[in-house]
Amino acid sequence: MTVRTRPALDTLPAYAPGRIVPGAIKLASNELSFPTLPSVAAAIADAVAHRTAGINRYPDPGGQGLVAALARHTGAPESHVIAGNGSVALCQQLVQATAGEGDEVLFGWRSFEAYPIVTQITGASSVRVPVTASHELDLPALATAITPATRLIFICTPNNPTGTAVRRADLVTFLDAVPDDVLVVIDEAYREFDAGADSPDGLEFALSRPNVLTLRTLSKAYGLAGLRVGYAVGDPLVIGALRKVAIPFALSSVAQAAGLAALAVKDELAPRWQQVIAERERVTAGLRAAGFEVPASQANFVWLPLRQRAADFSAHAERQHNVIVRAFPDACGGVRVTIGSPEENEAFLAAARSFQL
Ligand SMILES: Cc1ncc(COP(=O)(O)O)c(C=O)c1O
Repeated sequence: MTVRTRPALDTLPAYAPGRIVPGAIKLASNELSFPTLPSVAAAIADAVAHRTAGINRYPDPGGQGLVAALARHTGAPESHVIAGNGSVALCQQLVQATAGEGDEVLFGWRSFEAYPIVTQITGASSVRVPVTASHELDLPALATAITPATRLIFICTPNNPTGTAVRRADLVTFLDAVPDDVLVVIDEAYREFDAGADSPDGLEFALSRPNVLTLRTLSKAYGLAGLRVGYAVGDPLVIGALRKVAIPFALSSVAQAAGLAALAVKDELAPRWQQVIAERERVTAGLRAAGFEVPASQANFVWLPLRQRAADFSAHAERQHNVIVRAFPDACGGVRVTIGSPEENEAFLAAARSFQL
């Protein structure tokens, strides 16, 4: 007899992570290419080695020290902050806390590929609203797509994978159109790379509107992708619901220590973000000069809307130039390429220039 699993899992798309190929240049997962700062590495080593409260003990279940530091970092009261096992775990908690069978979760498409997965796991339905011809989230169309069944809306800005950011004024118009009992999550995983003068700061809305939450991560700009630290700021009622559905002890003591140390070196990290932004502009200009369409990115990656040719491009970059990019090979697909070190970006540009468009 075969064990019975939920039918919803039969059609669940698998999360496809950026591939790791030993010896290749990996530009597929939007990580920071810089090495870990020594003080962060030392804090991690200390957390492992500590004799009285080391890894033989369970971690602080609520990560109170980290939550307090995140509250100081964001200016939010501690009651408005939760930390999680990466912001993707918080995405799943958000859907679990708000939606189930018969409910709808709304987001732009293409956007972060975990949204439909975490939605289907709970039994809710995904409603995908196509991005505009210029690869931006279509906020008016998203507002129109709200129905009485809508429980949760993900607004990813800058958007993964298209890189485009929404404008603050457009976001205000959108938020004004959303019913008060529908939660809007502003996913700002890439906000530290957003240099747009009109770009919103999700915190402004998360602290003034009870149905808005901002989702952030230390995986990207803070260089902790391997340790899994994300956080959310929102109304205490929503934060309380997220705590209820959290897996106990999901945030390890080592991750908590690393998070604290990374927040403490923000000023040392910020120049790295500026270097990523400068490289992003250089790579964008190089790609456009080579004939590629490249939407203006505010993230640490660029998007090439190559649609069905995405797989060809990715194979060419890997086989001829040893560069791993992230291909989404379908009708609304393309290739997403992380901004790496200048040498890595040069290798990628060489791959792009030698691709037959
Ligand atoms: C838009 C967006 N949100 C959330 C995440 C999850 O990041 P993490 O779980 O590493 O915090 C990612 C990761 O790629 C992302 O692109």
